[in-house]
Amino acid sequence: MDTRQMGGTGRRVGAVGLGCMGMSWGYDQLGRDADVSVQVIRRALDLGADLIDTSDQYGPFTNEELVGRALRGHRDRAYLATKGGLVVDDPETFASHRDGRPEHLRAACEASLRRLGVDHVDLYQLHRIDPEVPLEESWGALAELVKEGKVGAIGLSEASVEEIRTAHAIHPVTSVQTELSLWSREPLADGVLAHCAEAGITFVSYSPLGRGFLSGAISSPEDLPEVDGRHRTPRFQPEAIAANQPIIDRAREVARQLGVTVPQVSLAWVLAQGEHVVAIPGTKNPRYLEENAAAAGVTLTSEQLALLDAVPEAVGTRY
Ligand SMILES: NC(=O)c1ccc[n+]([C@@H]2O[C@H](COP(=O)([O-])OP(=O)(O)OC[C@H]3O[C@@H](n4cnc5c(N)ncnc54)[C@H](OP(=O)(O)O)[C@@H]3O)[C@@H](O)[C@H]2O)c1
Repeated sequence: MDTRQMGGTGRRVGAVGLGCMGMSWGYDQLGRDADVSVQVIRRALDLGADLIDTSDQYGPFTNEELVGRALRGHRDRAYLATKGGLVVDDPETFASHRDGRPEHLRAACEASLRRLGVDHVDLYQLHRIDPEVPLEESWGALAELVKEGKVGAIGLSEASVEEIRTAHAIHPVTSVQTELSLWSREPLADGVLAHCAEAGITFVSYSPLGRGFLSGAISSPEDLPEVDGRHRTPRFQPEAIAANQPIIDRAREVARQLGVTVPQVSLAWVLAQGEHVVAIPGTKNPRYLEENAAAAGVTLTSEQLALLDAVPEAVGTRY
C-alpha cells in the first residue's frame, strides 16, 4: 500500500487506515460481531492499513478493549492511535462532554493503555479542545505523556488553524484528525488542510465515506439498519439523503470511467487532497475492508478530480 509520513515522527503509515469506532459505537448497533471485528483489524495490518484508530469514547471504553484484543501478538505491526478528552454522559443518545483538564487527560491516557494492553500508543489525540481549559494546559499535559514514553506523538481533532499554531509552538502537532470527504469539505475552506501541509502535519480524514453515505449504498433511511445512531443525524433525514444523491451520481460516473467502486472513488478523492492526507474509513465488514484498502491504489485524472470538486455542497449539517 502507498504510505504517507506521520508528521515529523519519521514513521510512515498506509494511506488508508482503519477506523474502529463502528465496531462498538454509533451506527449499526445490532450488526456487530467482536470476533469478525478482530479479524478485520488483523487483516487491515496484512493489507498495510496499519493506522488503527480508536478512542476511549467509543463504547464507551469497549472499543479500546476490542482493539487491544485484536492487537495481542500483533502490536508492532500497527500504528496505534487513540483519543481522550470526550466523556460519555449517555450511551443511548451518544451525548458526551469535553474534559481537557490535565489531570483528566493523564488518567484517561493511562486507562486507555490498560484497556489496550500496551505500554504506549503511537499517537494520542485530544478528541476535542475544551473551551473551559486553556489549550496550553491540555496540550502541555499530552506533551508530558510523550516525555514519559506513554505516547509516541500527539495530535488534535477538529482544531482551527490558530489552535494548531498554539499547540505546535508548545510541542509538535503530529496530526489533525477532522472530517473530510466529498460531502464535508470544510478543511479546504477554513485553511486547516493547507496549514497542515505547510507545517508538516498529517491530516487524518475521519468519516471519509460520509458515515456510509458516500459508499453509494444509502438512498433512503430504510437502507440503514433499524437500530442505528445515524437516524438521529441531520444528513440521514429523508430530505437530506434525497437532496445529496447528486454527489453519489457524480462519484458513480467517475467509478464507471475507472472500473472501480463508488467508495473507492470517495476515498481516492480524499487521498488526492494532498500527500499529507491519510484516510481512516470505518468498517466491521471484511469485504469492505479489502475494497477500502485497494482504494489507496486508485488514481483520479485531473478531469475526474475537477468533476468531483464541483459536486454540490451537502444539504444538512454534519452533526
Ligand atoms: N475525531 C472524531 O471526532 C471522529 C468522529 C467520527 C469518526 N472518527 C473516526 O473515523 C473513523 C471512520 O469514520 P466513520 O466510521 O464515522 O465513517 P465512514 O468511514 O465515513 O463510514 C463508515 C460507514 O461506512 C460503511 N462502509 C465502510 N466501507 C464501506 C464500503 N466499502 N462499502 C459500503 N459501505 C462501507 C460502514 O459499514 P460497516 O460498519 O457495516 O462496515 C459504516 O457504516 C471512525 O471509525 C473513527 O475512528 C473520528
